[in-house]
Amino acid sequence: MRTYIIRARKGSTRWEKIRSQIGSSAHLEVIAHSVMNAFFVSNGFRDDIEVYIILDSSEDFPRTIKLSSGVSMAGFHETAVLDLIEKALKESQGLQKDETKKLALGLEISGFGFERLVGKLIETRPVYLLDPKGDDIRKTQIESDPVFILSDHLALPKNNVKSLKRRGLKTLSLGKKMLFASQCVVLVNDEIDRMEF
Ligand SMILES: C[S@@+](CC[C@H](N)C(=O)[O-])C[C@H]1O[C@@H](n2cnc3c(N)ncnc32)[C@H](O)[C@@H]1O
Repeated sequence: MRTYIIRARKGSTRWEKIRSQIGSSAHLEVIAHSVMNAFFVSNGFRDDIEVYIILDSSEDFPRTIKLSSGVSMAGFHETAVLDLIEKALKESQGLQKDETKKLALGLEISGFGFERLVGKLIETRPVYLLDPKGDDIRKTQIESDPVFILSDHLALPKNNVKSLKRRGLKTLSLGKKMLFASQCVVLVNDEIDRMEF
């Protein structure tokens, strides 16, 4: 399994706001493009991928949407991803903090955010933070079952990163140029494909 965590620091947990966040200061297009590139190849859909989308802008608590094998995505376009985010938020109204609800094959939503999700995953899996200043991906032996963390246009808070590093978080660089999160997903998929085939 290959897992991506994409944190939308200004991503709204209100479904009716999602579309208007494309091309706005919330830059939700970053999330849509990353999800598309995580799953799709020409004429195919990767079934060994999971993507967690964390929506941080909330009146109560963040939401984490998990997309995985079997998810029904209409195509390689932004609308297909937005439809899924909207569906998850709309169909989980009343979700309690820390509760997880399975909504459809490959689609679930949880009432927690980054710290809890990563805190849990790092107990059992290797977790890598994508960072231009990290260790070169081409000189690193990526362990099996990896989890990759990406931020959107806003960097992760420094104290989040510090405490995770104490728990084994590694950093991974794709070169010195600061790329879009979706471009990182393409490159990571490619590097791992090359290691596997
Ligand atoms: C557009 S960048 C975020 C820019 C943001 N202003 C910042 O300072 O972090 C989105 C994310 O992609 C990842 N990223 C971008 N370029 C990278 C690179 N060359 N190597 C590794 N990760 C990279 C990082 O996780 C970054 O947070």
